[in-house]
Amino acid sequence: MKIAIIGAGNVGSALGGGWRTAGHEVVYALRDRTSDSARSMADEGFQVVPLDTASDADVTVLSLPWAAVEAALKEVGPLSGSILVDTTNPLTPSLDLAIGFDRSAGEQIASLAKGARVVKAFNTTGADNMAAARDFPSRPMMPVAGDDAEAKRVVSRLAEELGFEAIDAGPLAASRLLEPLAMFWIKQANIQKMGRDFAFSVVRR
Ligand SMILES: NC(=O)c1ccc[n+]([C@@H]2O[C@H](COP(=O)([O-])OP(=O)(O)OC[C@H]3O[C@@H](n4cnc5c(N)ncnc54)[C@H](OP(=O)(O)O)[C@@H]3O)[C@@H](O)[C@H]2O)c1
Repeated sequence: MKIAIIGAGNVGSALGGGWRTAGHEVVYALRDRTSDSARSMADEGFQVVPLDTASDADVTVLSLPWAAVEAALKEVGPLSGSILVDTTNPLTPSLDLAIGFDRSAGEQIASLAKGARVVKAFNTTGADNMAAARDFPSRPMMPVAGDDAEAKRVVSRLAEELGFEAIDAGPLAASRLLEPLAMFWIKQANIQKMGRDFAFSVVRR
């Protein structure tokens, strides 16, 4: 299979190396074919092609910084019918999500319950798992978000006591992440028919 990768950074180069090893023809479609990254790809034996030829492949892979995506896609031109793999995260320079929810139930509740030390927790898995967290082969995670460190410690301990691995998810505003994560669990359970006996856990190396 011919794979055109737009972007030769961390992601693009990692993917391309792996796919080439697997036997695919990998080309890099880059904005500047004289750049350091273009040269280094060429030195590694990859073909470097103009951006506007990226669609001449079986699969086109987009691995650019979020801020570069719109302009690059204009330059790439029509991709109608192409398989386009999007590896991007819509990140700001300070590594926040550039798009997404701008409020959350956690924050809303904090503004209603003035002065309360609101902690977001126990919302990312099903209630039956909260009753049976110890039944999993490894501890499911329980993200805990809040602005008050002590309140968060207390709630984290409560989560651990149920058999979860408490994960410090940061401030209450991280509810904006945890609430969509809950939606993911719900959809997996209900729409994707995974059932309710699964949970997210963290594995490490
Ligand atoms: N890094 C990760 O571990 C990781 C994991 C998952 C997803 N992602 C996401 O994947 C995307 C790529 O991440 P990365 O870490 O590979 O980025 P990166 O290392 O910064 O590589 C960026 C690539 O994009 C090119 N580029 C930058 N600005 C451009 C522009 N205006 N027009 C065209 N090309 C441009 C760069 O070309 P030059 O070399 O010429 O500057 C470089 O080839 C991001 O959206 C990121 O959020 C990253």
